[in-house]
Order: sequence, then C-alpha cells, then structure tokens
Amino acid sequence: MQNIAFPGACRSLETDTGMKKFYITTAIDYANGKPHLGHAYEKVLTDVIARSRRMLGHEVHFLTGLDEHGQKVQQTARKRGIEPIELCDEAARDFQGLCRDLEISNDDFIRTTEDRHKAVVRGILQKLHDEGQIYKAEYTGYYSERIEQFLRERDQVDGAWPAEYGEVVEITESNYFFRLGQYQDWLVRYLEENPDFIFPRFRQKQVLEFLKEPLNDLCISRPAERLSWGIPLPFDENYVTYVWFDALVNYISAVGYGEERFADYWPADFHVIGKDILVPPHSVYWPIMLKAAGVPLPKSLLVHGWWLKSGQKMAKSTGNVVDPLDLIGQFGPDAFRYFVTREMNVGQDSDFSLELFLSRYNSDLANDLGNLVSRVLNMIGRYCEGIVPPAGAVADEPERDLRALWEETRERSAELYAEMQFHVALDKTFAFIRSINRYAEIRAPWKLAKSDDPDDRARLRSTLAHMAEAVRLSVALLKPVMPGTAGRVYRLLGLTEVSEWETDLAWSSRLDGVRASAPEILFPRPKTETGEK
Ligand code: ME8
Ligand code: MG
Repeated sequence: MQNIAFPGACRSLETDTGMKKFYITTAIDYANGKPHLGHAYEKVLTDVIARSRRMLGHEVHFLTGLDEHGQKVQQTARKRGIEPIELCDEAARDFQGLCRDLEISNDDFIRTTEDRHKAVVRGILQKLHDEGQIYKAEYTGYYSERIEQFLRERDQVDGAWPAEYGEVVEITESNYFFRLGQYQDWLVRYLEENPDFIFPRFRQKQVLEFLKEPLNDLCISRPAERLSWGIPLPFDENYVTYVWFDALVNYISAVGYGEERFADYWPADFHVIGKDILVPPHSVYWPIMLKAAGVPLPKSLLVHGWWLKSGQKMAKSTGNVVDPLDLIGQFGPDAFRYFVTREMNVGQDSDFSLELFLSRYNSDLANDLGNLVSRVLNMIGRYCEGIVPPAGAVADEPERDLRALWEETRERSAELYAEMQFHVALDKTFAFIRSINRYAEIRAPWKLAKSDDPDDRARLRSTLAHMAEAVRLSVALLKPVMPGTAGRVYRLLGLTEVSEWETDLAWSSRLDGVRASAPEILFPRPKTETGEK
C-alpha cells in the first residue's frame, strides 16, 4: 500500500500533540434569513473535508452554528410581533434541519445566544477593557443599517453610497472602541511571513491591499437603546456588543476557551468562509482580536466563492434564492452534495442552473455510476449465483490497464484533496468509473457467459471480480462527498461501511466469495423532463 496521506493532513499531526483534534468550522449563519444554496454549499464543502480527514484517521471536530444577535433579527422579530429568541429558535430548527437533510457530520452546533458563548464574549471584553485595549469615545460617522457597520468616505462610489449598504445615515454617539489600529504593522508582517494563512493565495493579497490604508480602531459597541438584541458589555450595561465582536468569538467559545480542554482543539485547522466575510472580519478583526487576547491564530482560512445565478450572488438580499431543500428532497442529499462539489472550483464563483444539475444527475450519477452498479450486481446474480467470484489468474492488458488507472486515480485524488481541488478529484473518479464501463465492453461478460470453454469461464469470473472491486474502490473514494451512496453500494456488495481510506482504497481481493445483493436503483430518473414537480 503506497502512502495516501495528504500533505496538509500530515502537517497538523506532526506539529501537534497526540491530543490535538483536527478542528474545522463554517461561518455561523445569520438567524434572520432562511437557509439558501450558499449556506448549504459551505456546509457540504466543510463536511467533505471533515469526512476525508476522519477517513485518514484524524480525530475531527467540526463546528457549525447560528449567528443570532443584531439589528436585523431585532427588526424582523418586531415586524412579526414575536420575541427575537423565538425567531432564532425557528432559524435554529431550519438550519439544523438543513444539516440533517444534507447529512452534514458536524460534531457541534453553536448558537450565539447560548450562555457558553455569551460568557466567553464578556470575559474577553472585560479582559481587553481592563488592559486598556478598549476605550470610550465620541464618534460621528456614516452608518449602514443593512451591514451594521460604520462606513468610510471612500466606500462611496461617484459620491453616492452603493445600494448594497441600504440606507446610510450620519450619526454621532458615544461608543467603545477596540485599539485595532495599533496591530496593523504586526498583521501585515504576520501575513507576509505566513503566505499560506489564507487559501486561495490571491485572497491574501487582497487583504494586504486593504491593509495599505491606515486601519481605524473598531467600534465594538452599540447603544442599547438603538439595539437591545445583543450581549451587554460587561463593564457598561448601556451598550451591547457589536455583532462581529460577538459572532467571531464562537470559534473559541464552542470549544471551551478558558478551560483545559481548549488546548485539544485550538488553533483551528480551518475556518471555512465565503469571500464576502474575509475582509475585514476574518482577516483583520479576528486575527487582531486573538492577538490582543493572547490567543494563537487559527492555522488557515479557507475562502470559497459565491454561487451565482446569471452573474448575481444568490442570497436573501437580492431575493434570488434557490431553496436547496427542494433539490435535496427530490434527488437526495448525495446528488446535491455531488453537484455542488463537482461544479465549484473552491475559491472561484460558480453558476447555478437546474439544467446543469439535471445533466450531472442523469449523466454522471444515473448513467455512469448507477447503471454500472446495477450491471455488476445483475451479472453476479445471473452468472455467479450472487457470489462475487475470485479474480483468479487472469490478468491481461485490460485488467492491468484498469488497475493502473486506479492507482493513478487514487494517488492523484490524494493530491487534489490536499490542494482543495475537489471538483477535479471528482472528475478523475468519474473518469475511472467510465473506464470500468469500457472495461466491461471490452470483456463482454454477457458473451463469455454463453461459452462452455473453461478459459472463457475463468475470464468471466475474473471480469466480474475486477468490475466489482473497481466499483468498491470508486465508491470508497467518493465517500466524503457521497457518504450515503458509498455505504449503500458497500452493503449491496455484501460489505459493511467504508471507514478508512488507508485500507479501503487499496486494490484487494476482499470481495472474493462475498454474497452480493440484487441491484437497486441508486439514482431514479426525475419524474418530468425538467425535474420540476
Ligand atoms: O455572513 N454563495 O452570515 P450569512 C456561497 N453571520 N456562499 C454564500 C452565499 C452564496 N451565494 N451567500 C452567503 C454571515 N454565503 C455571518 C457570519 S461568521 C463568525 C459570521 C456564505 O448567513 C457566506 O459567505 O450571511 C458565509 O460564509 C455564510 O454563507 C454565512 O452567511
Ligand atoms: Mg451574508
């Protein structure tokens, strides 16, 4: 068995103690909206990484959750005549439901209204205040209610505020400020010395570009009379905490910051986020907050692009939402997971269309994979009484080619996973799947089955053994992306769950003599031409 460890994977195992878990997080979603494709994608992407690391033997801790405080939640709840917490409870049900429907393997789900979170936010604020890193001052500025941030003059375009900021008003108020600016030089140096802090690399350059302008101190409070739905400042109850100073802390509050167990998790291996929340929250505020609090920085930020529909970001504010639950319910979680992973080049944007979804579903899943599995199981049933035959001694060119292509696929996939090129890894895996179909055409077992010649009988057994083993290997490699399908095909082949790549990805004879089941339709054809209900 050749080494299949992923380069990135080794790094975290080598440098940390035996107890350190592979800790990966998603952004925490805003509670004031419904789940959409962007949220679903981010969870799937993170889940693919989490599951692949588990299969490499890592102890993984996967955190996702909900960002519950802020103006918008307060406003929406008021409009609907309910308490903010009721709105958040509803959102928690929706987002946890999304995780369940997509078979996301998160180990924890944090809500920023939980005591475990609020206690840590207040503790950090108090510490920074005690150390003089937070001060009170009067401030006049332009404030966007939509993004809950003060804007700078230079955020204007041609003398006007871009529509994305919604209504912008000039306000003067006393607030608390965090000495962000004094860490600017440190942060620039840190980013220059750690070029792999942000993936993909071109995003790190954007951060450095942003840091060429002087960094202002960060207003970290909101007067409670304007915004009551937040965490009160521990040193002044007339104010609540600014949402980003609250939300970012989830990454440490969820894993016991201040407790002994914190060292088992921190530093996080990856924060997975979308490109819209990199600059400044995750690349400037968060590193500086941690530095100021004396906490090490996370190892890396993995920044994905947006799902677009005809060039526009699909999100609540543009009313341009594809409800992922519709596709998941109709085609199953694995079809959805496959589609988003196959189509998105991590870091770039990707266009969503139902046509493309259906074409992937029909050609890759139903035809290439689904039909192959039925075909193999059918022939094992018909020609071998349902028992997978041993490969025997037959290993001519077609067999050697198939095995060589598998070795290449496996090795290349390991590299591609380490490079976050999941879409290419899937492309390679499906190329291998199609090659199994081609192998079947070359050997034509349905013809061999008609012959009484002992050589033909041996070749038939060998062909079915090679096909079955190649199918097993393909679905084992697909497991992080399509866990349900991998498990199901394993069971149809008479095996228990795929669990560990080290052993599951090696060409073996473990199917010899195993009783396989009758085929099942893995990817049923959609009911109508367009797939719409
Ligand atoms: O930003 N395509 O929450 P959120 C891909 N609460 N990803 C998308 C997307 C799209 N069309 N739209 C949104 C927040 N996302 C904050 C985060 S973290 C401490 C606080 C991604 O619900 C977005 O980039 O607006 C982000 O990573 C995540 O969905 C949650 O977005
Ligand atoms: Mg957003």
